[in-house]
Parts: sequence; structure tokens; C-alpha cells
Amino acid sequence: MTILLAIETSCDETSAAVVQDGCLVLSNVVQSQIELHRQYGGVFPEMASRQHMVAITPVIREAMERAGVGWGEIDAIAVVHGPGLAGSLLVGVNVAKTLALTQNKPLVGVNHIEAHIYANWLDAREDRRTPFTPPAFPLVCLIVSGGHTELVLMTEHHTYTRLGGTVDDAAGEAFDKVARLLNLGYPGGPAIERAAVGGDPKAFELPRAQHIGPYDFSFSGLKTAVLRLVQDLRRAQGQVVDERGIRLAEASLSAEESAALPIADIAASFQAAVVETLIEKSVAAIEAYGAVEFLLAGGVAANKALRQAVSERIRVPVRYPPIRYCTDNAAMVGAAGYYRYIAGLRSGLDLDVVPSLALV
Ligand code: KG4
Ligand code: ZN
Repeated sequence: MTILLAIETSCDETSAAVVQDGCLVLSNVVQSQIELHRQYGGVFPEMASRQHMVAITPVIREAMERAGVGWGEIDAIAVVHGPGLAGSLLVGVNVAKTLALTQNKPLVGVNHIEAHIYANWLDAREDRRTPFTPPAFPLVCLIVSGGHTELVLMTEHHTYTRLGGTVDDAAGEAFDKVARLLNLGYPGGPAIERAAVGGDPKAFELPRAQHIGPYDFSFSGLKTAVLRLVQDLRRAQGQVVDERGIRLAEASLSAEESAALPIADIAASFQAAVVETLIEKSVAAIEAYGAVEFLLAGGVAANKALRQAVSERIRVPVRYPPIRYCTDNAAMVGAAGYYRYIAGLRSGLDLDVVPSLALV
């Protein structure tokens, strides 16, 4: 039996988890900073790192207490060292290094994107009477979060080929920006998903990106198309639309302006356009590379329209983590860290943060 303490502070969640054998979550404590950043409509980096400083020690203590383990039972400490916000990553990495040194434990640096993928190795079933079957290789994984949109082929543990990714905004970022435009709140993904309930996903025809690689994504044209649609609808209502609309960030509607628009239809059409692109490219990659499984990962994998489309349209077995392991959390770091640990991979106490760390 191998037990890891895992730490995640790459963005705006302070999280610590205790994970057994890379699959059994003994505890997973997540302290979200969403309320803190809501007033800025996005993550404010300096506030994020300061909040991690305040939260990290109680969060780790709580994770150990809930798991009912002491230092003697911890075999190694896993920590995300990139990609992410430098000041946020520093807090988790420094705490992990200090604990590794003082408790004399091996340290395992984990890539945040790899951790999202390994959320699919966590056994989240309520009924564990039958053994858990981990994902089979070769597999294709779509990682869709606020910072990343990557389509990856995985042929073995730690063996990745990046098939493609976004050429501009990440999928979650597009959700966040469109939600801000429509005055739906932060974070944008869940807000758009709620707003889209009852909306007609075919109400508005929105463009799909062209002239990009077969497994690449682009969401900036779609985002601009939503802005143009909003302006056209407002003009049709006899509103005077000023030229704030040149840049999306400056074009946010007021609550009254938003309420006057068919928001459910706009949100549903936007969501459908994102989902359609993600599915199309994933299906092509699965076929081209003979994948035997398809995994979804990252915050946007929480989206129910995406989950439903994946279940309907993808012919190989599909997995996605439960929502609590889709958005940032340390349990997924415990899973990824375990497979690094048993492969003999260790980090030194000179482990540094790498804000733009790539998966491959
Ligand atoms: O993985 P994550 O928690 O953090 C990053 O590593 O980025 O992902 C956060 C992103 C945000 O952009 C958020 O709007 C999006 O995931 N998200 C969703 C949903 N829940 C979270 N997007 C669409 N639908 C959702 N239900
Ligand atoms: Zn993430």
C-alpha cells in the first residue's frame, strides 16, 4: 500500500489530498477562492498567491485529519509545479519541499495537465465490490480547462503525443469571456450551462474555425461572433450600439441589457458550437490513432452538454471524472504522483515552478 499527500495551488483553489495507490481518495480538501476573484471577473494573481499562503497549512492539516493518517503513513509528497500562476505555484511547491525535507519524504513534482488526465485513474465509485479497471491504452484524452485545450494520445503511462490544441483561447476561457459579455457571472462555464437550460442550441448559427490543423481548436472567432450577434440583436431592438464592441473585454452588457436578450438561446447556441468542435476533433483523433478509450479531463469536462455529446457520439468506451475531480483538486495530483512514484521518478529539493510547463 502506497499513500501520497498531494498538494495543488496552481491557480485559484488551495487543495490537499491523501490518496492510496493512485486510486483511492482518503481525503480531498479544496478551498476555492471563487468568491474572492468574482469581484474582478477573473483570477487576480497576487490575491491568489496571498490567499494560498493563508489557506495552505489548514488545508493540509484537514486533509491529513480527514484521511486519518499521520506522517508515518505517508510514503511521498506530490505537488503541482506547473503550468499555472508563478506566485500560486510557489506556495504549494515551497510547502511541499519543506515537508519533504522535515518529514524526510520523497518529493514528486507533477504537471497540472497530467494531473487532470489522471483524475480518470481515481476510483470514484460508491460500490467498490468489484475491482476498479483503470483506463486502457492507447487512449485519446481531451483536456479542456480554463487554461488549456489539448488533444493528447497516450500509449503508456507518461508517454504522450500532443495531437493538437487551441491556437488562441482555451475552451474554458471562451466560456468565461462570453459569460462576462452576457453578464452571467463568474466562473463562466457553469453560468453559461445554467443560462442555456431551456434554450435552443440551433437558434443561432455560429461559425466554426477553419484553416487550422486537423486536431487544433480555435475559439476566438466564435467569441467574436457571439459579440456581433449580441450587437445585431440589440440593434434590431432599436438600441443604440456603441463601438465598445470592438474588444470583447470592454463590451460587457449591463444586467438590464442582458435581460432584454434571448440569453438562453445565445448561451445554448454558443455551448453547442464549442461542444460540436470538441467532439468532431476528438472523434477524428480516436479513429486515426486506433484509441481503445477516450478520456475527458479538466474543468470544462464538468459540462453536461459535452458529457452527453461524448456519450452519444464517441464509439469507444468513454470516461470522465465526477465533477469534483474535473475542476482543480489535489486528488488528481495524488493519482498522477503515484504513477510517477512507482516508476521511480523523484524530484529534488531544487524543484522549481514552471508557469508554462508543457505536457510533452
Ligand atoms: O480545470 P479548471 O478548474 O482550472 C484550470 O486548470 O483552468 O477549469 C476551470 C474552467 C473555467 O474556465 C470554467 O469556466 C470551466 O472550467 N468550467 C466549465 C464548467 N465548469 C467549469 N465550463 C463549461 N461548463 C461547466 N459546467
Ligand atoms: Zn486545472
